[in-house]
Formats: sequence, C-alpha cells, structure tokens
Amino acid sequence: MSDGGSVRVRVWDVPIRLVHWLIVLLIGLSWWTAETGRLEWHSYSGYGLLALLLFRLYWGFFGSSTARFANFVRGPGAVIDYLKSRWVTAPGHNPLGALSVIALFALLAAQIVLGLFSVDVDGIESGPLSLYVSFEAGRVAAKWHDRVFGVLQWVVVLHVVAVLFYVWVKKQNLIGAMFSGRRDYATSPRGDVRFASTRRLVIGIGLAAGLTWLVAKAFQL
Ligand code: HEM
Repeated sequence: MSDGGSVRVRVWDVPIRLVHWLIVLLIGLSWWTAETGRLEWHSYSGYGLLALLLFRLYWGFFGSSTARFANFVRGPGAVIDYLKSRWVTAPGHNPLGALSVIALFALLAAQIVLGLFSVDVDGIESGPLSLYVSFEAGRVAAKWHDRVFGVLQWVVVLHVVAVLFYVWVKKQNLIGAMFSGRRDYATSPRGDVRFASTRRLVIGIGLAAGLTWLVAKAFQL
C-alpha cells in the first residue's frame, strides 16, 4: 500500500524500461547523425535499434507477463469496454494504449528494415542488405526510410501527448512508472505480474545480438 490508500504494484521489469529509454535515446541519435551526415554512426545507431527491437519481440513472447503481446494486444471489444470504463484493470498496457504501442513498434520495424536496404544518391553509403537489391530499389527504400520517419515522429508526439494526458488529467503517473517500474492503482488490479527469469533474459540478449551481427554482416560470414 502506498500513501493515500492506493496500491503500488511492480509492473515493468528492468528490460522493458531499459529498452524503452534506449529506443528514445537511439531514435534521437539516429535523427541527429542523419541530419549532420554522420552516416557511419547512423548505421551503428540503427543496429542498436535493430537489436533492441529484436529483443523486445522475443520478450513479447517469452518475457514477463506485462511485456507479452498476448496480454495486451486485444480486439476492438476490449478497447470499447475500456473507453466505456467497463474494462477491469489489469497491470500493464491498457487496451487503448496497446494500439499506440503496436503502431510504434510496427513503424520502428519498417524504419529499420528500410534503412537496411537503403542506398544514398552516389551509392557510397548503403545499408548492409542493399547488396541484395538493385540501386533503384535501394533508392526507393531510402525515400521510404525518410517518409516513414516523418510518420514515426507524429506517432511519437501522439504517444507523449497521451502519456501526459494520463499524468495531468487522469493523475496517473505513467512516466514515473517507466522509470521506477512501479505504478499506483486506486484499487488492486486484476491478476499478478509474473517476471521472467535471468536465464530467459540472457538467451534473449544473445539471440538479439547474434541476429543483429548477422544482419550487419549481410549474412556473409
Ligand atoms: C522516440 C520516442 C519514443 C518511442 C519510440 C516510444 C515508444 C514506446 C513503446 C514502444 C512503448 C511500449 C513499451 C513496451 O511495451 O515495451 C512505450 C511505452 C511508454 N512510453 Fe514511450 N516512447 C517514446 C518516448 C517517450 C517519452 C518521451 C515518454 C515520456 C514523456 C514516454 C513514456 C512512455 C510511458 C509512460 C510508457 C508506458 C505506457 C503505459 O503505461 O502503458 N515515451 N513507449
């Protein structure tokens, strides 16, 4: 029990929080390195994002219960119930917030894949997988890499506005929870949070790092 009679629950594990804030950091770094022409660092930043995304995908199936897609990706019925306040609170993303989570991950995945196939105007700076496509296809990928970033920016703005709405209007400190892992609920949420083992974490890090390394080498060992 925390101050004011609310219930404090540990909802986010360390990997979820670390992945989230590293994604924020690396998206900023990717933008800055692209704007200032530091393309070598831009690719390192992109590989970092790829590793984080691969790990988060794995964690969505084998990680702690609040990280698992099966626990927060729900049909329109759950979203309507949530909007009508009929949805029974469970720890983790709510059904509406989950939609923005999916949009962010999907856009990030598209952005990374397009970057891997992109070729710049003179063909000197290229993503590692561009050697499997023609120069023209690599240029199309680069164009879409730019466009998708434009969309991603707006979805991020929407995401932050939604989070701030919860903090300021609904008085739910979601941002603090993304740092501390703990969130206060007015009443006990339904169900317990099950945290994944360190063994699973190590396997996930190994898989994500290995796959990223293979992609960076264009699968040519
Ligand atoms: C580049 C910018 C950002 C991206 C791409 C991003 C992406 C995401 C994603 C994918 C999640 C789901 C986390 C998971 O399930 O693993 C999430 C959750 C969250 N993000 Fe962000 N985020 C960004 C910036 C921010 C900022 C600036 C804040 C704080 C103001 C923030 C606050 C949160 C919070 C509080 C949650 C948890 C929401 C909940 O309780 O359901 N994010 N974000």
